[in-house]
Amino acid sequence: MSVGAARAIALVAVGALVACGAGRDREVEAVAPVTPAWQVRASGGMTAIAVGTDDPALLDAGRCRECHEAIADEWAGSRHALAWTNGLFQREYSEAPKPWCVNCHAPIEPQQAQLAAGGGALVDQGVNCATCHVRSGALVAARRAPTSPHATTVDPTFGSPAFCADCHEFTFPVLGRDGVPVRMTGHPMQATVSSFAAGPYAREADGCMTCHGSRHGHAFAGGHDADMLGAALEVTWCTAGEQLQLAVTNINAGHVVPTGDIHRHLLLRVWRSSTPAGVWEAFFGRRFEQADDGGKRTVWDSGLEPRETKRFTVALAALADGDADADAAEPLNLELVYVYVADEFPRRDRVPTEPTAATMVRWREAPAAIPRCTP
Ligand code: HEC
Ligand code: HEC
Ligand code: HEC
Ligand code: HEC
Ligand code: HEC
Repeated sequence: MSVGAARAIALVAVGALVACGAGRDREVEAVAPVTPAWQVRASGGMTAIAVGTDDPALLDAGRCRECHEAIADEWAGSRHALAWTNGLFQREYSEAPKPWCVNCHAPIEPQQAQLAAGGGALVDQGVNCATCHVRSGALVAARRAPTSPHATTVDPTFGSPAFCADCHEFTFPVLGRDGVPVRMTGHPMQATVSSFAAGPYAREADGCMTCHGSRHGHAFAGGHDADMLGAALEVTWCTAGEQLQLAVTNINAGHVVPTGDIHRHLLLRVWRSSTPAGVWEAFFGRRFEQADDGGKRTVWDSGLEPRETKRFTVALAALADGDADADAAEPLNLELVYVYVADEFPRRDRVPTEPTAATMVRWREAPAAIPRCTP
């Protein structure tokens, strides 16, 4: 991805060369990949992000806030700002603190130096302004405003899908005993960017920001945002004789749902309150097995591709769990739950400080009130 994006820019320069009548060989030489200004590491978080400065005026989001208040406040509510402190990450990390995790959840070198000295305010800023915008001791952005006081390095690929891929596209790592990555394997762990690139939104000029843009550009709402989740999928149900038919469509996400972290999954459930053991359940997510190269291989993926519909048929009798005298008029419950972690219902001593799941849809309706399916 990043190489492709860099090549597109390099081609602009090639155009000029061709105009001067440069030979074919020179042209090929000219398209050698240019590393974008924001790119200082290979994807996969093998290393920390080098920012080339220790100056708090460039590193501390509080200093940026002095002039960029609206952006800073929007960022402060984002999962980027909470990448280190959020309860779900902290539960996993405190149980097994691996240095690899830090390379994306508190990625810049000065944060890691602070962490090594016991932690502090900079670490708690997670993916902060400098994480995305500071490289080689200077700001990097897609453009520079005429009124800007900064010596900004302009790189038009800033904010492109390739840029997001630095943290949102990677394979399983092989970690040493100390939790430091030894190498990356060939099997995808998070594949949000390639899933987007293979889908119907790949040609959108604004890339990921088509849907992840916000008023001040820095909210990055996703799976923890009720509006974003509500917009992602459409669920319908209808009855056909003794059957209930269900359909779930990914109407609004530019990538598979769920995407991102390996534990993300959705559960669609239908049940009767009087016979809960007859619950019908569908799982949307991934399953893995150990692979030869030391990573893990996806052996099952029931996520919804962009615009994909999955359909299910449920026998009403099965919901009654074999109870022949069940009241046929009893309302049916339906819920669609988005689960952030492996354990929807954690053990008592492992309960994180924030919810493990969000309810996307919750219905309760008597069978007679559910629409009839149209053939
Ligand atoms: C003294 C005020 C001030 C401070 C402090 C400040 N900025 Fe800016 N910045 C501006 C102004 C003015 C602009 C021009 C565009 C605008 O008005 O938003 C700008 C523009 C930018 C741009 C767009 C690129 C450009 O150069 O036009 C980025 C990115 C940016 N700032 C990031 C930051 C970050 C990150 C920090 C903290 C490390 C920071 N700024 C601190 C005033 C400031
Ligand atoms: C996850 C990466 C990320 C983080 C963290 C981040 N930014 Fe940005 N920033 C972006 C992207 C992407 C853009 C849009 C680039 C474009 O216009 O194509 C942007 C644009 C900007 C701009 C220019 C806005 C404009 O209207 O052109 C400013 C100013 C800015 N960011 C400041 C900040 C400040 C201050 C912080 C911290 C409070 C911050 N950013 C944190 C990715 C980030
Ligand atoms: C330096 C690493 C980094 C970069 C670059 C980055 N992100 Fe993120 N992003 C993260 C991390 C880490 C999280 C998860 C934080 C958490 O919840 O623990 C995250 C979370 C998110 C979320 C919210 C997920 C949720 O569960 O709600 C969205 C949406 C998102 N990023 C979009 C983007 C987009 C779009 C870009 C490119 C413009 C981008 N990110 C660039 C590291 C990054
Ligand atoms: C067509 C709209 C659309 C586009 C384009 C899009 N997204 Fe999303 N994204 C969504 C919606 C809707 C959700 C909420 C549903 C969910 O969490 O899966 C979401 C969720 C996410 C999440 C949170 C997943 C989680 O685990 O909770 C991340 C991270 C993310 N997007 C990153 C990206 C990146 C990176 C790109 C570009 C490569 C991108 N998105 C492009 C619509 C879009
Ligand atoms: C290469 C970058 C990268 C590394 C390394 C990484 N993560 Fe993440 N992590 C992300 C991104 C990006 C997201 C957000 C995607 C999403 O929303 O599903 C995320 C999300 C999470 C979440 C969900 C947080 C939430 O807000 O719901 C947890 C928990 C988590 N990571 C734990 C870990 C742990 C533990 C490690 C180390 C074993 C680790 N991560 C290593 C990039 C990384």
